[in-house]
Amino acid sequence: MNDKCRQSGMWLILRGQESQIHWASASDDPSTMELPDLVLMAASILGFIALCKTLVRLVRWAWTMFLRPPKNLKEYGSWALVTGSTDGIGKAMAFELASKGLSLVLVGRNPCKLEAVSNEIRERHGEGVEVKNIVIDFAKLSEEEIARRIDEGIKGMDVGVLVNNVGLAYPYPRFFHEVNLELMESVGRVNIGGTTWVTRSVLPGMLKKKKGAIINIGSASVWLQSYPLATLYAATKAYMAMFSKSISMEYRQYGIDVQCQFPLLVATKMTLIKRSSLLIPSPETFSKASIRWFGYEHECTPYWPHSVQWYVSSLLPNALLDWCVLRYFLGMRTRGQAKERKKSRVRVLVRPTAMLKKIFFFFFLLLLFTY
Ligand SMILES: NC(=O)c1ccc[n+]([C@@H]2O[C@H](COP(=O)([O-])OP(=O)(O)OC[C@H]3O[C@@H](n4cnc5c(N)ncnc54)[C@H](OP(=O)(O)O)[C@@H]3O)[C@@H](O)[C@H]2O)c1
Repeated sequence: MNDKCRQSGMWLILRGQESQIHWASASDDPSTMELPDLVLMAASILGFIALCKTLVRLVRWAWTMFLRPPKNLKEYGSWALVTGSTDGIGKAMAFELASKGLSLVLVGRNPCKLEAVSNEIRERHGEGVEVKNIVIDFAKLSEEEIARRIDEGIKGMDVGVLVNNVGLAYPYPRFFHEVNLELMESVGRVNIGGTTWVTRSVLPGMLKKKKGAIINIGSASVWLQSYPLATLYAATKAYMAMFSKSISMEYRQYGIDVQCQFPLLVATKMTLIKRSSLLIPSPETFSKASIRWFGYEHECTPYWPHSVQWYVSSLLPNALLDWCVLRYFLGMRTRGQAKERKKSRVRVLVRPTAMLKKIFFFFFLLLLFTY
């Protein structure tokens, strides 16, 4: 670099390297600069632009995560429908929506659990929040029956928000050939059928009034290059991501905001994680973050530590990520298999005890009648 450049320049240290930005003054004539100086200047300008871009992204991230006011969900309609609302994220989401003053249609497979959740919501939120239950086992009912029950259940209601949350994963990770046929069918029916058919039933009402929000709970597994030992689950979530993206494009013009959320781990019965932490939130913490995003971008990771986790892991080489996921799931598989063996051993032990009881009872009756 020549002396003239050195004197008139402003120097910055970028990324620990001695990269120097020279802001050419009016007297600098690029035609008189040497080639290395020009290259250095171009690199510095590019570095500066990259830095600005990163800063803008950071500010935007902070705005969307913490500062942006959430939408008034009641403007979409007075009712919200949540599938899989008897446990985990869906249950927490139902409470969160009720706290925003929305009445609820709860969809679940277990009538007792549905009743318990709706009573709890009524007790906590009083008369202002109406709750209606629809019993559907997505793994067992036909598509027509699912659509019929939803159509009948929401007839005449102003459903403004739909949360397609219902989801099913394997009880523990396993190789594809180890998934039995029943489980295989259930994962497809619940994850794909559940979302598709409920959306199909709720959409016409939203279209009529030209507003609505559809939130699909996907999974961050779709961002990874592979998701071994949970193959079917990840494949159904990939369907969900594409389904969301496409219907978002179709219905945006009709005032319907479709969004797919991509959570990482949440402490629910699906993940078998009981204790929550900053990185693995409780369903309640996750739902609070999730609802703030309803109606905005068509894709998001609403809980901020999840998005930081995702950013950090996206910097790692894909091969390393693949290896980590495989190791993690192999460990879970071994623990799951051990638990299953223990359970079946207990069952084997219990069975002879029951048998012995019957024999004793028989001899007791025999003795009673002989004397
Ligand atoms: N937890 C995570 O780390 C995580 C991460 C990424 C994405 N997700 C997604 O988040 C959603 C909720 O997951 P979660 O962790 O909250 O799961 P969860 O605790 O297992 O709850 C699942 C809910 O779905 C219901 N359900 C399951 N099978 C059903 C069926 N056949 N018919 C009707 N309802 C059924 C369950 O009903 P019962 O109460 O009767 O069991 C429960 O209410 C899922 O779509 C999941 O893929 C979760």
